Amino acid sequence: MITAMGKPEAEAASSYLVQQDWAAYTAEQHGIWAELVRRRMPELREHACAEYLAGFEAIGLQEDSIPNLTEISQRLEPRTGWNSTPVSGFLPPAAFFEMLAGRRFPTTTWLRGRESLEYIPQPDIFHDVFGHVPMHAHPVFADFLQQYGKVCAALHDKDALERMGRLFWFTVEFGVIRQGGQIKLYGSGLISSPGESQHVLRALNGSGPEIRDFNLDQVLNQKFLVSEMQKVLYAVDSFEQIYDAAREAERRL
Ligand SMILES: [Fe+2]
Repeated sequence: MITAMGKPEAEAASSYLVQQDWAAYTAEQHGIWAELVRRRMPELREHACAEYLAGFEAIGLQEDSIPNLTEISQRLEPRTGWNSTPVSGFLPPAAFFEMLAGRRFPTTTWLRGRESLEYIPQPDIFHDVFGHVPMHAHPVFADFLQQYGKVCAALHDKDALERMGRLFWFTVEFGVIRQGGQIKLYGSGLISSPGESQHVLRALNGSGPEIRDFNLDQVLNQKFLVSEMQKVLYAVDSFEQIYDAAREAERRL
């Protein structure tokens, strides 16, 4: 369905949309956010890609308080047309892809407790906003993610969707990029998780995962386990490469 604004109506996603009750977060929760940010920033200032760090500033993320998604979106939308839309939790694939295709990033509003600062099995607002959203301020990455959603929304074949899931995994979640002769992090799983990123950074002295040049065919065929540290990652030289890969995937699948 197309609305009067000309944007596709989010139909499959509509029952998952919620409001973020920002005033309901407690001082303790803002304190947990601050602690999570404080633990990640020294490493990220050195090892995150330039676009992530620029995006962090651009969307107005605060180091000491949980982000207000309305305010984040007000800063993000004029840049790339993306927003950060509050959702109740994991979305089924059709709803997820539909939202990405409409430049709406499904964003959880709950925050992990102090007992699980290092690891949570499901994404929370720290993973979603701190890990993902700064990259959405970068025009090429923003176009890539929309293109990715558009391709997947049109796919119904289970194998093709599994292959596209690998493209998401090795870019959006665990992507790395070469900048200034170094491997820099841009995937949200690396940005938001100290264990995963330190594992990758060990690759710099030869004991971490194998880092290969990004290659669409290899990525589409590369199986992975969610429950293990990554054994292989794919490095791009520019974000145009993943945008082109998403276009190529559309032609092939
Ligand atoms: Fe994620």
